[in-house]
Amino acid sequence: EHSGAEGAPGTTPLAVALEGLRRLEYRGYDSAGVALVGPGIDGVAHAKKAGKLANLVEELDLRPLPAASSAIGHTRWATHGGPTDQNAHPHLADGGRLAVIHNGIIENFAELRAELAAEGVEYLSETDTEVAAQLIAREYRATKDLTGAMTRAARRLEGTFTLLAVHADDPEKVVGARHDSPLVVGLGEGENFLGSDVAAFIAHTKEAMELGQDQVVTITPTSVEVTDFDGNPADAKRYTVDWDAAAAEKGGFDSFMDKEIHDQPQAVADTLRGRTDASGALVLDDLRIDESVLRAVNKIIVVACGTAAYSGHVAKYAIEHWCRIPVEVELAHEFRYRDPIVDEKTLVVAVTQSGETMDTLMAVRHAREQGAKVISIVNTHGSTIPRESDAVLYTHAGPEIAVASTKAFLAQITAAYLLGLYLAQLRGNKFPDEISTLLDDLRDMPRKIQTVIERGEYVRATARSMEDSDKVLFLGRHVGFPVALEGALKLKELAYIHAEGFAAGELKHGPIALIDEGQPVFVVVPSPRGRDSLHSKIISNIQEIRARGARTLVIAEDGDDAVRGYADEIFWIPKAPTLLQPLLAVVPLQIFAMALATAKGLDVDQPRNLAKSVTVE
Ligand code: F6R
Repeated sequence: EHSGAEGAPGTTPLAVALEGLRRLEYRGYDSAGVALVGPGIDGVAHAKKAGKLANLVEELDLRPLPAASSAIGHTRWATHGGPTDQNAHPHLADGGRLAVIHNGIIENFAELRAELAAEGVEYLSETDTEVAAQLIAREYRATKDLTGAMTRAARRLEGTFTLLAVHADDPEKVVGARHDSPLVVGLGEGENFLGSDVAAFIAHTKEAMELGQDQVVTITPTSVEVTDFDGNPADAKRYTVDWDAAAAEKGGFDSFMDKEIHDQPQAVADTLRGRTDASGALVLDDLRIDESVLRAVNKIIVVACGTAAYSGHVAKYAIEHWCRIPVEVELAHEFRYRDPIVDEKTLVVAVTQSGETMDTLMAVRHAREQGAKVISIVNTHGSTIPRESDAVLYTHAGPEIAVASTKAFLAQITAAYLLGLYLAQLRGNKFPDEISTLLDDLRDMPRKIQTVIERGEYVRATARSMEDSDKVLFLGRHVGFPVALEGALKLKELAYIHAEGFAAGELKHGPIALIDEGQPVFVVVPSPRGRDSLHSKIISNIQEIRARGARTLVIAEDGDDAVRGYADEIFWIPKAPTLLQPLLAVVPLQIFAMALATAKGLDVDQPRNLAKSVTVE
């Protein structure tokens, strides 16, 4: 959602809001709507449509709205009530003079709905948002003060919410509130903005302000006021966004996903940059944890969801190897409900691109309640999770717009390596020269990732020839295992093909029954120069599936001639130390999923049913 009060010359509030929605559409996109207030408007002018933003734009072309002082807009990812025009936001109340948009879920909505219904309120939709709108309207009627009404309503609401409201009585004002859901302020000249993400207003200003938990903000073209839910003045942190509007554009690529795959060498290089002090020792961004506490850590638990959790699997292999600390990886939504064993000697590492994933946020809070220290690995500045962590290690992947994660994943893995090396340095597990050799290896990775991307056409051609596949399997061992899981996830979410990743050694314990004639199976082959007999073990695994008819699509290191005899297709990647190989091996799998989905005519940037930032549990 987005609000522009008083547009810059040539940009009306409606145009600013629609542009903001376009930039935020990746966050959720099953319906969209806008509401406008202004001196020439009777009440609130509004439009809302189920489906993508384009439907709303079409509606506005057919039935234009009048000129306005302020606009709010929303794209929705349905929670309460299906994705219909009626359920789309904004929701109106107070006789059509108040409009409200909302992100999150209001958990006590049934109780509030009944309470207001008893007072005679009638509802037009099934949404929890309309209940919030009616609640704000009731408070407004009593006080005639929109900020006060929002504050009083916010105190009554349970669950998670970002709310924005405008009222026809005061068309230069937009009021927002946040509780466990993102809201940032954009500070312009003679105009101010609100958005779930700075991407909403980045074309207008890079000056931003992050709101704290449980704050209410009131903007007009010339003022920004922040209070807590009791109405007391509150502080909010100002910052300058370190990327510009061009970073959030496709820049000539067919899709954001394609662009972001190509951004990966830069994302890794930027995440590595500036991490060492004058003596060559590693430093972290914002470390509010005493070094003695980090030295005493006896267990690490990585909490994350989806792709971010797979980066945690890679972290486990690297950190255990380098630091000799046991590392567990737990899906954030499982962590909290299993009564995990966590204490002052546990370090919890929360990995999240958005910094807003509700499941991960709840895991962070739970860990800290148990006395653990939390370091978060986060891509989005101004988001909630870094603020609630004891330390943060920012990935510098830039804005990730495509819903399926690519460059953020590589940046997360890179940050996890840095964390592992930092802990190894701090705890004396490695000599400084060993650490600097590993850092040199890491600094070589962007160039190698670039090489893999340049070899992408062969992957694309293979994908196009496999458009009719209905099931694809992915195998890997060691750090190749999370790569296999990620390859399968990319294919599921982009191409809607059933895909499954396995640890290759697990195959004979069951999944091998899935293999029949022609079954495509990707295999991530570790470096033949690597440790133990990992390489020969996976060659045996390939033989086992081939003997049962599988079509093998092998990712192997340049010069690994041993795989030639067993592969139907080979996607070559440059040589790299085993632990760093995921940064290369996953790239062909990303390109494969994107190309196959494209061949099927699907929208790779906005796959069905998904949202970029999952701010509900
Ligand atoms: C998959 C994907 C998701 C996210 C997950 C966590 O392509 O993007 O699985 O990785 O929803 O999101 P963040 O990293 O924002 O916490």
